[in-house]
Amino acid sequence: MKRNKIALIGGGQIGGNLALLAAQKELGDIVIFDIPQAEGMTKGKALDIMQLRPHDGYDVNLTGSSDYADIKDTDVVIITAGVPRKPGMDREDLLNINIKIITDVANNVKKYAPNSFVIVLSNPLDAIVYSFYKISKFAKNQVVGMAGALDTSRFRTFLSMETGYSVQDIQCIVLGGHGDTMIPIIRTATIGGIPIAELIPEDTLEAIVQRTRVAGGEIVKLFGNGSAYFAPAQSAIEMAESYLLDKKRVIPCAALCEGEFGINGYFIGVPTVIGSGGVEKILEFQLTEEENSALQNTLQHVKKTIEEIGL
Ligand code: APR
Repeated sequence: MKRNKIALIGGGQIGGNLALLAAQKELGDIVIFDIPQAEGMTKGKALDIMQLRPHDGYDVNLTGSSDYADIKDTDVVIITAGVPRKPGMDREDLLNINIKIITDVANNVKKYAPNSFVIVLSNPLDAIVYSFYKISKFAKNQVVGMAGALDTSRFRTFLSMETGYSVQDIQCIVLGGHGDTMIPIIRTATIGGIPIAELIPEDTLEAIVQRTRVAGGEIVKLFGNGSAYFAPAQSAIEMAESYLLDKKRVIPCAALCEGEFGINGYFIGVPTVIGSGGVEKILEFQLTEEENSALQNTLQHVKKTIEEIGL
């Protein structure tokens, strides 16, 4: 059986962690791609991870490259190319730089890996994944943005930190754009199957929801020079794994909506099924009036950013 091939476009903080996690899960051979000025860094990271494989015996190969020809015939492409936030910035502030980068990336991924499943992480996420889709002209099931998986795991983390109960037994979903208007759906959150509202007082829950919305910014402030990279990498790896192993996991992702939740023509965080067909399905469910208007609000933010791009 041929090994899968995974290309990481952007070999910075998230890219390096993606390489490590993909190797540890033996998801396939890995190419870490970056701009020519960072070629040495990609080769160094690849070699460093190659040298940790003997400890646990991961039989995958890692290479670094700044030549797009090396991503040929890739199964999964994970894109983190771009600049991260600095304190005081919101994700929209990255738009001008990252839109130029995604244009170059999309043209090359289209040329060298036209059949790949593409997971985009670069921010502002909902606009950058939309741009990738428009420029590459890939099928809608082939392109997805990583946001909800991370936002949901942040929400679960804070619920676990509040209660002291295992993160493993906490389930919930966060919908909407990857920004401060995202919507953690409290009424669907459970701990060990018990509705969260039965276990946590309303005002505490509201504080957790608010912390979730700005959780990325909390880390940006702490770092002082860059944004989160461990949890974003793990979130994307879960999506890649579900595709490669046809697990059909239900993961909130930025997917192209065509009528689902009343949204048409935009990528936004919705529950998706990810399997060998890529984004196989968007799982629609009935929102309350309040949730629906929150979703419309987050959609307006996404639309505004996309209008600025003018694609
Ligand atoms: N092609 C390929 N790689 C590029 C390009 C390009 N045109 N332009 C920049 N890069 C590379 C940079 O050289 C750098 O190595 O993208 C990498 C980004 O890595 P970091 O600066 O370490 O940023 P990281 O923390 O990994 O975040 C990347 O993901 O979550 C988002 O907001 C975050 O947009 C940011 C992205």
